Amino acid sequence: MSIQILALVGSLRSASVNRKLAEAAAALAPEGTEVTIYEGLAEVPFYNEDLDAEGSVPAAAQALRDAAKAAGALLLVTPEYNGSTPAVLSNAVDWLSRPYGAGAVKDLPAAVISASPSPYGAKWANDDARKVLGVAGAKVLEDASVTVGGRFQDFAETHPKDHEETAAELAGVLAALIGALEPVNA
Ligand code: FNR
Repeated sequence: MSIQILALVGSLRSASVNRKLAEAAAALAPEGTEVTIYEGLAEVPFYNEDLDAEGSVPAAAQALRDAAKAAGALLLVTPEYNGSTPAVLSNAVDWLSRPYGAGAVKDLPAAVISASPSPYGAKWANDDARKVLGVAGAKVLEDASVTVGGRFQDFAETHPKDHEETAAELAGVLAALIGALEPVNA
């Protein structure tokens, strides 16, 4: 059975560089590993504890939870909005964090990639994503994060999978996730 890595992308725009980075991770996944970009994030309603009860969890939120539970690892790919992660990602993590202590991300190895046009490469969003995932119970790989800043504009023309430095960094993140996961499955 192959290793499944679920990628959650925080930008919904069609030409998103963050989405391209997730696509590049999927293209670079080593044999026996599959990176799937989750396509239903925009449909997940805002987290509401009233809805989070047996029989009333919205289908789109349940589908997200099911996808995370079926995955061996999580890859968050985030732009920076006003110094943090976009609401779409933070909402997803809220759904994945509950029930408290037993959410879908509990003990899931997780890494964060961030990109914005600023030279800092969405560093604040990256830091926040790692913090929030950790609080949610994921096993965050602190040393396996990538920030894409200065080269952001290159990816309007060149897909990041064809950009040597970026491809090497993404391959490093995938290797770290796979390495974190193997002992779990052993
Ligand atoms: C931004 N952007 C941005 N960039 C940044 O480096 N720091 C920031 O605080 C913000 N804030 C921010 C707020 C809002 C509401 C928007 C729409 C944008 C720029 C942002 O990172 C950029 O436009 C893209 O979203 C980059 O990612 P994608 O969409 O190409 O994946």
